[in-house]
Amino acid sequence: MKLYSKQDLANYDLALTYDDISLVPTHISKMKSRVESNTKHKFLGKALSLPVVSSPMDTVTGLAMAKELTSLGCLGIVNRFDSSLKEVLDDAANFKDIKGVSIALNTDDKTIERLAERKAVICIDTANANNKFVLDKCEQIKKKYNVKVIVGNIAHGATLKQLVDAGADAVRIGIGGGSMCTTSIQTGIGIGQVSSLLDVYFTRKEQKLNIELIADGGIKSPGDVAKAIALGADAVMLGRMLAGTKESPGEVIKYNDQLWKKYRGSASFGVKMKNEFIEGEETMIAYKGAVKNVINGISDGLRSAMSYMSCFTIDELRNTETFAILSNSSYLERLPKK
Ligand code: IMP
Repeated sequence: MKLYSKQDLANYDLALTYDDISLVPTHISKMKSRVESNTKHKFLGKALSLPVVSSPMDTVTGLAMAKELTSLGCLGIVNRFDSSLKEVLDDAANFKDIKGVSIALNTDDKTIERLAERKAVICIDTANANNKFVLDKCEQIKKKYNVKVIVGNIAHGATLKQLVDAGADAVRIGIGGGSMCTTSIQTGIGIGQVSSLLDVYFTRKEQKLNIELIADGGIKSPGDVAKAIALGADAVMLGRMLAGTKESPGEVIKYNDQLWKKYRGSASFGVKMKNEFIEGEETMIAYKGAVKNVINGISDGLRSAMSYMSCFTIDELRNTETFAILSNSSYLERLPKK
């Protein structure tokens, strides 16, 4: 079997996603236990205990989620849809723990100024970063304020330099891969998440660009988090993995003797509530309890991956060059059997 480096994977004929690849340990690990691995990582100037960022979706990140993620050493990006954004602005004392907020293209200057005063990371939350109005907004914000700005999303590195020239500090990578996303079905746009991430990764490297990379969409498990970091992502953005928890916005619903919470795409009908073009689905997911348990599970999985791969730090894991491409039967073999 061929061991694939990142460059080999990037040059592969077909687009690949997380289920197509796996990490291959090739060294004798010098680690006694996974607790020796260190998942601390600096992202957008913030020292995170785990490079996990929450999706700015109305069923994922409100104030409770953002606060809890801050206390767990992750970064929560409060969604732009509900009243949370207003609350962040109105109560500086209470909401000093909110480190990230998403805005729309038409969010006014006054709001942006107040977010900038609070040193919150600003995420310009659009479906497509390859758009003049998104880049203009980014440039305006970066010219006026000393804040970090995330733009998104892109699926390919072709425009990365223009994003950097507009001042973007980080970019969300992935179009069509989100679990609630119907973009590819509705439009035919999108590449596998692994290929997207690597294309942007190598563009950054070849053009020596300074921008951080967020693997966004399609991450289903701690193993996928480990794969995304091993592929060079600076952070992962999670929607579904954090949805359905105690801290995600929305009611717990009892149905068929089970507890559920709603999860929906930002471009779903439920969010838009009007007859616009819909690129997102809605669903119910089983209630998971405290988000702390989910984050601990991700941390454990990532540490264990680092122990297998003999990596003491996130940067060591990000330098992984030993991947396998799985046949479909190899992929199926990896799944637990009933
Ligand atoms: P998940 O973690 O696989 O559930 O994906 C979450 C990501 O899906 C978000 O961070 C967005 O990039 C993307 N997303 C959210 N809502 C929509 C939508 O309505 N249509 C397409 N993509 C979406």
